Formats: sequence, C-alpha cells, structure tokens
Amino acid sequence: MNEYKIAVIPGDGIGKEVVREACRVLDSVATINNFKLNYDSFDWGSDFYFKNKKMMPEDGLEILSNFDAIFLGAVGDPKIQDHITLNGLLLPIRRRFDQFVCLRPSALFEGVESPLKGINAGEIDLVVVRENTEGEYANVGGFQYENFDDEIAIQSSVFTRKGTERVIRYAFDLSMDRNKKLTSITKSNAQGYSMVLWDKVFKEVSKDYPDVKTNSLLIDAACMDFIRKPSEFDVVVASNLFGDILTDIAAMITGGLGLASSGNISENKDNPSMFEPTHGSAPDIEGQDIANPMAQILTGAMMLSYLGENNAANSIREAVKIVLKTGNSITADLGGNATTTECAEEVILKLDE
Ligand code: NAD
Ligand code: IPM
Ligand code: MN
Repeated sequence: MNEYKIAVIPGDGIGKEVVREACRVLDSVATINNFKLNYDSFDWGSDFYFKNKKMMPEDGLEILSNFDAIFLGAVGDPKIQDHITLNGLLLPIRRRFDQFVCLRPSALFEGVESPLKGINAGEIDLVVVRENTEGEYANVGGFQYENFDDEIAIQSSVFTRKGTERVIRYAFDLSMDRNKKLTSITKSNAQGYSMVLWDKVFKEVSKDYPDVKTNSLLIDAACMDFIRKPSEFDVVVASNLFGDILTDIAAMITGGLGLASSGNISENKDNPSMFEPTHGSAPDIEGQDIANPMAQILTGAMMLSYLGENNAANSIREAVKIVLKTGNSITADLGGNATTTECAEEVILKLDE
C-alpha cells in the first residue's frame, strides 16, 4: 500500500475548520483507493505567535523538508499585521522549497451561478500559472528615516531570467496538455525593465512551442477581459502580484473563493510542494462552521494528483461536482444553508458514485 507523509498546517481562522473537513474527505478517498496519508499536524500560525513571538519554530522549515507534501489552511489574524504573519510562515515556505509555480484553476461548474450575465456552466475553464517566488514579492527593500516626516519605503521587484523562463516554460507545457492557448500578462507599458524582460523571455520560449497560440495582455486589460470575455482564456501566465489579483477575479466569476483551489509547486523532488486554497482565514466568518470547505477539498484533490493518486483525485472532483449540481448541502456563500461539516459529509457520501 502506498503511504505518504503529509505536514498539515491548519493555520488561522477558517483554515482550521476547512482543513479538518478536507482531511476527512482525503481519508475516505484514501481508504477507497487503498493508500494511506500519514499526517503530522502543526499548530503554527497566529496562536503560536501569541505564545512564542514567532509564527513557527526556528527549525520549522527543516521539519517540513521531511514531508512529501504540505497541506495548509490559511494564515492571517486581524490582531497581527499581515506582513508579519505571512512573512513568518506562508511566504518563507514558498521560497525555501522553491515552489516557483502557483497553480490556480477556475472552472464554472454546473449548479454554480456566475455573477456574470449570460455565462453558463462549462463556459469558463482556465488555469492561472502564477510566478511564486520572486517578482513583486521578493523580500527586498527597507525603510529610511522610519517614523519621521521624511520617511521613505523602498520595495524592489526582482525578475530573474531564470525565474521568468522556468515559469513561462511550465505554462507552455501545461498549454500543450490543454487547449494549446496561452496568455501572458504584463505591464510593460509602464514597467520598462522587469516586464520588458518578461515579454522578451515569453517571445523566446514561444519559439519552442510553435503549436501554442499565444497572446500578451496588459494586466489592466486582462482584468477587464476576465469579466468581459472569460471564455477566451485557457492557460494564463503572470507575475506574482498580477497572478494574485487575477486569481481572486477568476475565483469570483466561477462561484467565489469558497471553490478556488491552489497549489504551490516545486519541481525539485527533494522539496515538498504546498497545497492551500486561494482564500484566506476569513475572520468575518470564522468559528461559525459556515465556511465553504470545497476550496480546501479541491486543493486536497490537487495534492493527490501531485502525489500520483489520480483516481482518488478525480473521484473527489467528481463528488464535488455532484454536490454542486444537486445543490444539496451547499454552504451560504453558494446560496445554501449547510454547515462546513455537512457539506464535507455530502462530498464523502458522493465519493463512491
Ligand atoms: P479572505 O479570503 O480570507 O476572505 C475574503 C472574503 O471571502 C470574506 O468575506 C470571506 O468570508 C469570504 N470567504 C473566503 N473563503 C471563504 C470560504 N471558504 N467560504 C465562504 N466564504 C469565504 O480574504 P481577506 O479577508 O482579504 O483576508 C483575511 C486574512 O487572510 C488576512 O489576514 C489575509 O492576509 C489572509 N490571507 C491569507 C491567505 C493564505 O493564507 N493563503 C490568502 C488570502 C488572504
Ligand atoms: C494568496 C494570498 C497570499 C499571496 C497573501 C496572504 C500573502 O493572497 O495566496 O493569494 O498574496 O500570495
Ligand atoms: Mn491572494
């Protein structure tokens, strides 16, 4: 029987609630498919910070390096500034394990209503490949004259040829497995160095993929077109910040953050990849058992695909689709009144179908 070592970090807010439920779904599907997920759960996050003045232990990253994958809920607490919590846990994991691809699929499933007029199920099916370790998120900068009238903040973006090329190549490879259509997003009309490098590398790499139909859009135009004609997108590749913003839009036009899965992928097999939904800790609804667990559940399916358990991953996706289509036991964000637990239980019931 195949066994996998999974580091589970529920984190903050609804992260704890949706991870608990998603793990039950994962366990059920593992039993059916005859493999085992061995979890080690870590209580790292904001509660850990209140006690220890740090988000994870000094050797936290070392500990994580021994796992096959990391399954994370969300990080962020209104009582601590976000740059402290995120730079203390989530972002160092993405960087340390060189998880240079953030993969974010968005599809409009049957039974889910898009806020966009005239868009039906199946008419949006896209994947954003977001650069995940450098770009606008590079931890480079500083304050000068901090807290004085003349204070200055410098936040530098870092775009390397290597980092740009590998994420673009990943997106081209993914396009070859899908509909051979790739859109690159930049802002090279205003950012005349980093984004110009990106455009140049995109053009160069495209020569290796003559079958892929390519297009380049400016980020502002892309935001508009995600609303205006989302069906035209298939694979989209973007820098860290632009990918972050676009994937919230992609989530909203396909039913909201409660359905948006995400994986932070490393291609170095010695490094664990990390799977966490696109949404955050949602402090406005935490502790009420009303969060939609489906984003975390679909994120679990993504983790199983990464581990090579494709049958199990597909049966989770199919079960979620059935629940959405029937509309039984869906949560309030989708117009239902089920609890987080009831929704996950319904998915478990449909795993066999
Ligand atoms: P958020 O994603 O937590 O919430 C945005 C809105 O969507 C809220 O109204 C929330 O209730 C709703 N929502 C999100 N997930 C939902 C779900 N599964 N079911 C139902 N409704 C859901 O974003 P935010 O409010 O901007 O951020 C809250 C905190 O989370 C901040 O501290 C932020 O930095 C952090 N954050 C963390 C991550 C992460 O850990 N990956 C991602 C985004 C935001
Ligand atoms: C996401 C989140 C994070 C990001 C934040 C919390 C740092 O918004 O995963 O989309 O911007 O990457
Ligand atoms: Mn985000």
